[in-house]
Amino acid sequence: MNNQDLRELVNPVFNTAKSCVQLSAASGDKDAQRLLDALGFPPFGAQMSNKPIPKEMLEQVRKLFPAYTIIIETRFQTMNRLIERMEERQIADLPCGYTSRGIRLSRQGRTYFGLDLPAVIDAMGPAVESIIGKNKAVTYHAVDATNYESLENAFTEDSRNLLVTTEGLLMYFVQSELEKVFSNIRCLLQKYGGSWVIADRAYFLYDKEVVAATLNNDPQLTAMYAAVTNRAAATTADVKFNDSVFFDPDDGKVRDFIRKMGFELHEICMADYLPDQIASLNGNPEVEPAVRDVFGKMKFWELTVAKNVTSKPAPVDINLPFRVVSEVKDGVFEVSIQGRMDTITAPELLKQFQNAGTGIRAIHVDVSRMAYVSSAGLRVLLMMYKSLENKDSFDMTGVSDDVREILETTGFDQFLLK
Ligand SMILES: C[S@@+](CC[C@H](N)C(=O)[O-])C[C@H]1O[C@@H](n2cnc3c(N)ncnc32)[C@H](O)[C@@H]1O
Repeated sequence: MNNQDLRELVNPVFNTAKSCVQLSAASGDKDAQRLLDALGFPPFGAQMSNKPIPKEMLEQVRKLFPAYTIIIETRFQTMNRLIERMEERQIADLPCGYTSRGIRLSRQGRTYFGLDLPAVIDAMGPAVESIIGKNKAVTYHAVDATNYESLENAFTEDSRNLLVTTEGLLMYFVQSELEKVFSNIRCLLQKYGGSWVIADRAYFLYDKEVVAATLNNDPQLTAMYAAVTNRAAATTADVKFNDSVFFDPDDGKVRDFIRKMGFELHEICMADYLPDQIASLNGNPEVEPAVRDVFGKMKFWELTVAKNVTSKPAPVDINLPFRVVSEVKDGVFEVSIQGRMDTITAPELLKQFQNAGTGIRAIHVDVSRMAYVSSAGLRVLLMMYKSLENKDSFDMTGVSDDVREILETTGFDQFLLK
């Protein structure tokens, strides 16, 4: 199994970014099309067009297309326009996915840091370079947003006045991860200055309204859209969505959380940043006013470090370097894990477990020196647990209070703890 296969098993969530760039290209973004070619991705709908679809259904599917593209087009383009109006800022795009933003900003001479999981960055760095050539101002960095050190490593002495942009990220985090990400970004802003703009709350609250307006409130099409997207979401990434306070329907709870995490919140009306022409609506100009009305209610959330937070950014992750030491004795896989186990580090554990071969009848995991575990790390532990015929022969020792809390809030304790 190669590195990319291991990463796919550990955290399949990066696959969600593929359909985003496919949809961007489908909505007419020429840079996205160049990226699709450079990355070797097929166009949106290619999988679908291989299957014979009845003629009357094809017509329906065609009508649904604008509903797919509008979410991605507006999310990407409104953020682009906001970035373009904040000329002094250096952009930290977290997560950059496979978007063409770096290519676009390279033409404007802006400083851009594309930040995403290693599985994405390994492909994006070379793909963008093949289009724009070497460019010191537009760089890509493998990070895990829950891992402060990986984020800080992306920046340099000259980094300042950051505009951290987030579209399509926070829904993948459980509460403990969300808290880490918030405190990591707060520390980055304390060190480099700037603010953090998030689109995810607005789309959580209003994406259905945007889609309904785009489909002219046609009940049959709207229901069909919901059915197809639910199925696609479940198969693309085997992860839970919206499983933290950030997606609580009660706005008050989210605002409290933001305050507790040391931020002040400012709202920015998204309608002011919509492009003059929304390409996804080209075939349907009559619905445009209703779509723009929905955006009148949608807000980017801009977070700045609260004035009362004066403490210097503490080294948030005072963790031991990650290390996995394992051996197999009489069919027992004995392993000790040190440091923080996240999307970047967890593939090492999976690799050692796979190298141990078949015939493992029991697993002992010593986590007494494990500082933190993210969903990706939990997924690997669960894979190991599931591989055993006799589930009682999985044993985890040295569980700290912090790790226990993560296991309990994610529900993994019912498998991994006795
Ligand atoms: C739905 S995509 C959105 C990407 C991009 N912003 C866009 O609009 O196309 C979600 C992205 O989040 C990234 N991601 C998920 N968990 C992450 C983490 N812990 N740290 C950094 N990136 C992460 C995935 O790799 C993926 O690229």
